Order: sequence, then structure tokens, then C-alpha cells
Amino acid sequence: MKSIITTAVVALSSLVLLTEAHISFRYPCPRLGPYAECPQPNDSQWDLVDYDVQSPLGTHDQITDPICKHSFSFAGVRPVFTAGQTIQAKMDVNVNHNGGSCQWALSYDNGSNWVVIQDQFQNCLASAPADSTYTLPIKIPANAPTGNNVVLNWIWNNNEGNRELYSSCADIVIQGTSGGSLSGVVPLYANYGPSSPYIPEKAVSGGNWGQAYFAARKNITITVPAQKIKRQIVPLN
Ligand SMILES: *[C@@H]1O[C@H](CO)[C@@H](O)[C@H](O)[C@H]1NC(C)=O
Ligand SMILES: *[C@@H]1O[C@H](CO)[C@@H](O)[C@H](O)[C@H]1NC(C)=O
Ligand SMILES: *[C@@H]1O[C@H](CO)[C@@H](O)[C@H](O)[C@H]1NC(C)=O
Repeated sequence: MKSIITTAVVALSSLVLLTEAHISFRYPCPRLGPYAECPQPNDSQWDLVDYDVQSPLGTHDQITDPICKHSFSFAGVRPVFTAGQTIQAKMDVNVNHNGGSCQWALSYDNGSNWVVIQDQFQNCLASAPADSTYTLPIKIPANAPTGNNVVLNWIWNNNEGNRELYSSCADIVIQGTSGGSLSGVVPLYANYGPSSPYIPEKAVSGGNWGQAYFAARKNITITVPAQKIKRQIVPLN
């Protein structure tokens, strides 16, 4: 009897683990993700592969992972995108939580400063089927400066379920004008630890999706030093 209960508990907890996966980038490749088409670990990095790369960074109660989830990618070829280009990004969707609000941001300094380049409020990913690869376009601003070490960050607050924050980062190269600046707003990190802004469940809050917090994001201008694209395989981080 005892062993039957133990088996049931083990089965239940693996179910919980499975349902904890939600959404991440699949293309461009998320840092340390488990995807065969992405940069792979070297012989001493296999234990760093994140098989739970779709899970949130935490809830409004507790932060479990830093922004981006991971601070580096495995060595490999970074995709080169052109300023003004629309990337047909692929999201690895497990469950969509009835959508939510997405922000996309760029960092040219390894995550110290972020500039939002695109928003999709309220309905972002709402029509993404469960267990699918879902295409979500991202437009790189036409005036984005050239950068060999650019981080593209997808940030998401879900409409339903635990009050969570998601973030998935890809290391990319941008070909634009060499040296310049980029202006926008600083991303909102809501539902990310007790001191962060709280966005309630949209469906049970009369439709409050955190609009005031998004509207209050601060402006930022970042300046990027002149540089040439290095067209080789780069262990960037
Ligand atoms: C794997 O890559 C890491 C990070 O670049 C490096 O520190 C380590 O020495 C490499 N290990 C092997 C076995 O190549
Ligand atoms: C932020 O930038 C926007 C658009 O450029 C501008 O309309 C707004 O006044 C700026 N806000 C502040 C507080 O400077
Ligand atoms: C980026 O920052 C992380 C820590 O957040 C650090 O481990 C990594 O070495 C940095 N990479 C570069 C290229 O500075």
C-alpha cells in the first residue's frame, strides 16, 4: 500500500513538473535551450542544458531566475539580422494562459540596459495553440545600430494563472549603422517578486491588464560604439 502511494506521489509530481513548462523562444535560439538546431554545449557543459527553458522567471511572490533566465549562450553561430528587418520568431508554446502582454527589448551591453522595440498588449500569444511552435514577428528598428553582442529579450506577463513573468533571451548580431543610438522605453518587469508592480488576472479583475504600469515606463536612449560585423563563429559570451 505504502509503495502504491509513493508511486502515485512520484507520478503526480512529474506531472506537475511537466505542466510547469510554458513558453520560450525557439528561434532565435534561447540561451542554454535544449534544441538540436541551436548552439550545443561542449563536453563539460551538458549539465547546463535547460530542459525547462519555457518556465517563468518566478511569480509576484518569488523570483526564481534572473531576467533572461541565463546569462550566456553556448558557443556557436549567432543569427545576423538587419536593421529594419522583421524576424519571423518562433515561440515554443506549451500553454498560452489565455495570452497576455509581450514586450521585446534589445540590450547592447550584456543586459545592463534594455530598450523596448515592440509591444503587444493584452492578446499576445492568446491564439497560440498548446504544444505548438508559434510564429510571432519581431521588427528590428530601422535605426538599430550595428552590434556583434546584442541580446534580444522576449518578456511576457500572462493573463490567466499564477501571476508570473516570463523572459527568454537570444544572443544575436544586428547589422545596421555603425555607431549610433537607440531610444525607447525601459521594459516593465511586473509580477516578478514582491516589490515589482502587480498585474492581476485579467479575466477576474474587470479587465485590468496593467495598462497604467506599461504607460509609466521610463524613456531611455542607449549609445552604441562604432563596430564592424564579425562574420565568423563566435563564442560571444
Ligand atoms: C567549454 O566552454 C567553456 C566556456 O567557454 C569553457 O570554459 C570550457 O573550458 C569548455 N570546455 C571544454 C571541454 O571545451
Ligand atoms: C518619452 O518619450 C516620448 C516619445 O518620444 C515623449 O512623448 C515623452 O514626452 C517622453 N517622456 C518623458 C517623461 O520624457
Ligand atoms: C555577461 O554577463 C554575465 C553575468 O550576468 C557574465 O557571466 C558574462 O561573462 C557576461 N558576458 C560578457 C560578454 O560580458
